[in-house]
Amino acid sequence: MRQPLVAGNWKLNGSLASTRELLAGIKAGLEGVTNAEVAVCPPYILIPEAQAQLTGSPIAWGGQNLSSETGGAFTGEIAASMLLDFGCKYVLVGHSERRTLYGEDNALVAKKFAVAREAGLVPILCVGETLEERQQGITEEIVGGQLAAVIDQEGVAALGDAVVAYEPVWAIGTGMTASPEQAQAVHAFIRAQVAQHDVGIADGLRILYGGSMKPGNAAELMAQNDIDGGLIGGAALKADDFLAICKAAN
Ligand code: 13P
Repeated sequence: MRQPLVAGNWKLNGSLASTRELLAGIKAGLEGVTNAEVAVCPPYILIPEAQAQLTGSPIAWGGQNLSSETGGAFTGEIAASMLLDFGCKYVLVGHSERRTLYGEDNALVAKKFAVAREAGLVPILCVGETLEERQQGITEEIVGGQLAAVIDQEGVAALGDAVVAYEPVWAIGTGMTASPEQAQAVHAFIRAQVAQHDVGIADGLRILYGGSMKPGNAAELMAQNDIDGGLIGGAALKADDFLAICKAAN
């Protein structure tokens, strides 16, 4: 049995005050959510506040990104060991905004994935196609290539303690969600690709869906066989919405 995971990706949002309020709201409303795991990924500078508020709670926290380097002259970067030092369990790797806006390619994403694991963080590897790629019929080629970059470099065993998130780029922040059938098809494809290397790892791998997941569509998406939770953007910024999704996963 795969334990569902609902992770909030706050992106570049939040202040110290709003973080306090949001985390207090999530903590207060999470009673009864015992079957699903819950995590939040605030901006780096708000991670100490998450640690202060969430230590001792069932809610985990993580980073949205990390450096591919472990230390040295890399101005503006944050190392995996620093995230770990502040109690992070998870770190997003290869989010589509990192890939498209900051030029992260498959090789860099694979390196970040490796660095995260070596430090003891659980990477959440984000994959997904653009609208153009979907219309060209190359979704599997794109997603498969993003996944293969990590498997080829790190070996399939590296996915044994990682999470994958399928986030169709065209569904992120657009209100345009993949239908449960569209999402399930890609999730099944991802699991099958991993199974070609190792059936046991494929069976245990949590594959989250991300892209305009909301209280109104979360249950239907997460009812699909291969959808094991969600990576939530906009709806993770409102305690009520995020809690409703956590309850749907539960
Ligand atoms: P939205 O939920 O705002 O579409 O964002 C999804 C996402 O990018 C999570 O990482």
